[in-house]
Amino acid sequence: MGLPWNFAPLHGDRVHLDLPRPDDLDALFAIQSDPEVCRYLLYEPRSREKVQEVLARDSAGTRLAEAGDFVQPAIRDAEGRLIGTIYFKITSTEDATAEIGWLLAPSAQGHGYAREAAALMLDLAFGELGLHRVYAELDPRNAASVALCLRLGMRHEAHFREHMWFKGAWADTGIYAVLASEWRG
Ligand SMILES: CC(C)(COP(=O)(O)OP(=O)(O)OC[C@H]1O[C@@H](n2cnc3c(N)ncnc32)[C@H](O)[C@@H]1OP(=O)(O)O)[C@@H](O)C(=O)NCCC(=O)NCCS
Repeated sequence: MGLPWNFAPLHGDRVHLDLPRPDDLDALFAIQSDPEVCRYLLYEPRSREKVQEVLARDSAGTRLAEAGDFVQPAIRDAEGRLIGTIYFKITSTEDATAEIGWLLAPSAQGHGYAREAAALMLDLAFGELGLHRVYAELDPRNAASVALCLRLGMRHEAHFREHMWFKGAWADTGIYAVLASEWRG
């Protein structure tokens, strides 16, 4: 396995991924304070102070070595503006497994940017990092996220009924995953 890995920017045709910076605060706050963006996220819309705290944490997260290590790079457009983020966490080194997640500003949705950004991370995961399996956990009502998983070739592996207490009610959880062999294929 190619761990430890120190963050290096990833470049696609229309988006690139690099670490968040203090001057991303306005853009990230606009996204993470939006109730529509947060509807299926584990957190409620965030205050500016909370986003500032998260930004400081995520810009310092530059190394993947052990289970629990994560990076949360900015998805940037051609002008370098932060339009979203990708979450990527090593969940097991023994099983060479990671979790992936995503969010985009509403104005950036519907252009395939999340797909391109996630594909950059999956190329890294199954290439340089040598991982075996990457999965996403989501609320099955989150149709845009389900569609993204399917567009990436992730398989629907599980549907846990009323798996968690979520924002005042029981909610289901869906698991989607892709193996290295499937990604290469
Ligand atoms: C989940 C989320 C990232 C998906 O964003 P998205 O823009 O729909 O995803 P993609 O990047 O795959 O883009 C696909 C859309 O772009 C369209 N598109 C336009 N040009 C495209 C291109 N060149 N290439 C690919 N898709 C293109 C596709 O047709 C599709 O639109 P459709 O859904 O109307 O069919 C977004 O809805 C989001 O941030 N939601 C809020 C946060 C959230 O819930 N995150 C997930 C938690 S599990």
